[in-house]
Amino acid sequence: MATEHDEYMGSLKAQLAKLFEVSLKVTVPNELDVEPLVAACNGKFGDYQCNNAMGLWSKIKGKGAPFRGPPAVGEAIKNNLPTSEMIESCSVAGPGFVNVVLSKNWMAKVSIQKMLIEGIDTWAPLPPVKTAVVDFSSPNIAKEMHVGHLRSTIIGDTLARMLEFSKVKVLRRNHVGDWGTQFGMLIEFLFEKFPNFEDATETAIGDLQAFYKASKQRFDADPAFKERAQQAVVRLQGGEDKYRRAWAQICQISRTEFHKVYQRLGVHLEEKGESFYNPYIPGVIEALNKQGLVEESQGARVIFIEGINIPLIVVKSDGGFNYASTDLAALWYRLNEEKAEWIIYVTDVGQQQHFDMFFKAAKRAGWLPQGDSSYPKASHVGFGLVLGEDGKRFRTRNTEVVRLVDLLDEAKVRSKAALIERGKGEEWTEKEIESTAEAVGYGAVKATLLFICYMLTLESVQSSGGLKGTLVLGHKDERDLGLHLLQFAEVVEEACTNLLPNVLCDYLYNLSEIFSKFYSNPECKVIGSDMETSRLLLCEATAVVMRKCFDLLGITPIYKI
Ligand code: ARG
Repeated sequence: MATEHDEYMGSLKAQLAKLFEVSLKVTVPNELDVEPLVAACNGKFGDYQCNNAMGLWSKIKGKGAPFRGPPAVGEAIKNNLPTSEMIESCSVAGPGFVNVVLSKNWMAKVSIQKMLIEGIDTWAPLPPVKTAVVDFSSPNIAKEMHVGHLRSTIIGDTLARMLEFSKVKVLRRNHVGDWGTQFGMLIEFLFEKFPNFEDATETAIGDLQAFYKASKQRFDADPAFKERAQQAVVRLQGGEDKYRRAWAQICQISRTEFHKVYQRLGVHLEEKGESFYNPYIPGVIEALNKQGLVEESQGARVIFIEGINIPLIVVKSDGGFNYASTDLAALWYRLNEEKAEWIIYVTDVGQQQHFDMFFKAAKRAGWLPQGDSSYPKASHVGFGLVLGEDGKRFRTRNTEVVRLVDLLDEAKVRSKAALIERGKGEEWTEKEIESTAEAVGYGAVKATLLFICYMLTLESVQSSGGLKGTLVLGHKDERDLGLHLLQFAEVVEEACTNLLPNVLCDYLYNLSEIFSKFYSNPECKVIGSDMETSRLLLCEATAVVMRKCFDLLGITPIYKI
């Protein structure tokens, strides 16, 4: 007989939701497809809560249902819950919340110990798609890879890792800006500086961004050069060999630069730059045209979008294609050739309108369904712009420190917000707030990092044992830790579904805290206590989950300090 031991039933929350679904069908048989509202609730009444009673009551009252009010609905939901070894007890509180206390025995044996034996992969969420594209990093050739691209790289990599953990086939796409009119000027400048342009290697050019700036200066200052540059674009797009080779050369130099950054960060990407989609653009636009979506507007070809007063330009007035034409062709390719069901773009919020508009155009064309809950789906993950002290977009070339700087900035911003919230804005001078925010924020980051290092040192000692025995969650601190471990799957699920990797950071942070509470409690002494084996198993399970968190966040754990 198949029981819940045999196959993975989804996260803790999902399993409870299934039980409540059964109960709801019995409780209100006339209400169809009531979605169970189940939430974790570390309150004193239980571990999870089902919140359907109140909403249901307002739907069924007066329709002759046999209840006197929401608490009675809650009571019925509770009574109709199928028996399950997961649940120790159930109670109804307040206006009808159904509280569930999980069975310690089930948590320890069925879930955590089973995971230790079969591996953390058995806790992976089950997302509704098979193939996804994550379009991230995507810097522009010969331009600088600024901090925005770095954030995109880190966020995109984490999203990709979480989806891969969930057994989704992820196409990690680097949509580099390797096409466009700027290449005319770059190529012409290359010919000027290097008559034997094949010699223009990275070492010869040195700094491609400086090269870009110099060629732009030349372009702006000399009309004859400008003329030649414009010619060069035409010849490049016409496929003339010499121009194609010069273009490829410039791209290669940039690519080598980008690659160094990816290597340092341990991020893997597959390049399919803008140029790749270029041949597909005319066909895609023609198809949209046949559907009657493309209109003429001030010499350009555009698609009008409901609710937005500027249209999406798909062919410029000079007949050329642009960023949006390329993105439409790329989306078409990803949906039809690569059969991706979820296409995720990670850029700064500055590009939100672009994505909003071309997603809407794709919906008008029937490529994507109207609503946002069904697949295939396109999502834009927009992160905040990083501003420099001058209030302008923050740019840097020192890629080595950015990751940490970013983290430190975030910590400072948060601790500053906390200070302001406590009313320090009125009490303290700006300088005092700044320096305190830095001390608290940076301190927290360091403490967290160091703590986690300590954790993993501990782990390396304990994993070596090849532990056997039984896990028991006797003490409250043990139970709290066990429950938090069990919630890993639903946290990853939430982070994936809502494309919010920071949910996982918060989880990891809380896990360190909950572990520390357990580990530093004398009542939960590990080595030398009569609960030693059980507690070592709990440490081991914590280490497994922590290691997976690190892995999904793309951070290399340190085992020794
Ligand atoms: N190259 C663009 C930039 O640097 C980002 C590309 C994002 N991806 C996309 N399919 N539009 O801003």
